[in-house]
Amino acid sequence: MDRIRIVGGNQLQGVIPISGAKNAALPLMIASLLTDDTLTLENVPHLADVEQLIRILGNHGADISVNGRRERQGESYARTIHFTSRNIVSTTAPYELVSKMRASFWVIGPLLAREGKARVSLPGGCAIGTRPVDLFIEGLAALGANIEIDGGYVNATAPEGGLTGGRYVFPKVSVGATHVLMMAATLANGTTVIGNAAREPEVADLAKCLNAMGAKIDGAGTGTITIEGVRSLSGARHRVLPDRIETGTYAMAVAMTGGDVILEDTEASLLDTALEAIRRTGAEISETNSGIRVVRNGAGIRPVDIVTDPFPGFPTDLQAQFMGLMTRSSGVSHITETIFENRFMHVQELARLGAKISLSGQTAKIEGVSRLKGAPVMATDLRASVSLVIAALAAEGETMVSRVYHLDRGFERLEEKLTRCGAHVERVSD
Ligand code: EPZ
Repeated sequence: MDRIRIVGGNQLQGVIPISGAKNAALPLMIASLLTDDTLTLENVPHLADVEQLIRILGNHGADISVNGRRERQGESYARTIHFTSRNIVSTTAPYELVSKMRASFWVIGPLLAREGKARVSLPGGCAIGTRPVDLFIEGLAALGANIEIDGGYVNATAPEGGLTGGRYVFPKVSVGATHVLMMAATLANGTTVIGNAAREPEVADLAKCLNAMGAKIDGAGTGTITIEGVRSLSGARHRVLPDRIETGTYAMAVAMTGGDVILEDTEASLLDTALEAIRRTGAEISETNSGIRVVRNGAGIRPVDIVTDPFPGFPTDLQAQFMGLMTRSSGVSHITETIFENRFMHVQELARLGAKISLSGQTAKIEGVSRLKGAPVMATDLRASVSLVIAALAAEGETMVSRVYHLDRGFERLEEKLTRCGAHVERVSD
């Protein structure tokens, strides 16, 4: 199994191309099941989660071709992938496939809308909390679906004549359930109104693509989304938006090591709250023509408190990385996680590098230390693992990160991007 070896101490200098967003690419790929025409997605990152979803869509009958020639974009290779689901050959998403990645559960929306039925295994994914599916079930029921859970599977059927438009106000913000309800409603009879919808940029990106396919969606990116159902959707060509979590991760890496890096092909407006928190730690952040410039020279890292929240709040997917940064701050900071109940698994691994962190309920107290020291550590989930990389970049000596398959789920060519900016990061295959 691969490991990542990092020797800390170097500043980062140079350009890091930001990839297409994993969390936009996944729902966009799933949306291809809504049409018998071809959906072409550009700027798709090459990640383990994307490959896994390709297998899942193939199981439903999607014909998928990846452009042989990868499109060159700065230093990064953004793939263009064509998805054609002429016929849905199976409306079952089996346990073996769905258990590997929670987002694969989302096929329930398009399958139900297009075929009138879906049988989808209860999901798996990162072990960051219980992550139930009650909101999906309630939301789809509001469109007239009949849903039963049996033997670890969710069996959903639409009434004779298909789903009908409805009104549903989420009692709690859910990105995935908003994606699913929006996709299902595109083909329902009549109008659907979703209240307390997730406002994440990935929701707006999915709506933009669905509208290009002929859907009639209004308000995506705000708390209220209105969808007027249409009879069918056509193909389209859509470019996946930049990965705001990858952007924030590298911005924090620079804030940690010091240096001067341009994050290319990304947009500051996707992560204002996180960039503001990074600024408060002492880094300078400015927008350039092609992205964002992050600079930290000399001065230490100031302690900053954060609380995670749905968009536009501080993203839970950047919480672990920010904790990595705070381990070296010049004082005491507090990080409160409000989205997932078990998203602090990086705490004990950061402690191996010398971090001083104590937990009290959903809040971590981080007492900054003047020096971290390299050690063997283990990746526990996708974002937790990259927080270890950030800490290791500023630690003295060598850190070996094991279980890097977690990193490969969400960070495209991480070691190459960091190495080009002067870091000592290499993949070691045993
Ligand atoms: C998406 O997950 C992201 N995944 C996650 O990123 C991200 O952490 C999360 O949104 C929050 O921003 C993708 O986009 C592929 P939720 P999702 O439904 O949709 C609870 C990463 O590292 N909930 O918004 O699964 C749930 O338990 C991943 O890239 C219910 O209670 O998250 C959580 O507490 C990890 N019932 C909260 O809502 C439900 O039916 C928010 O979860 C559904 C969710």
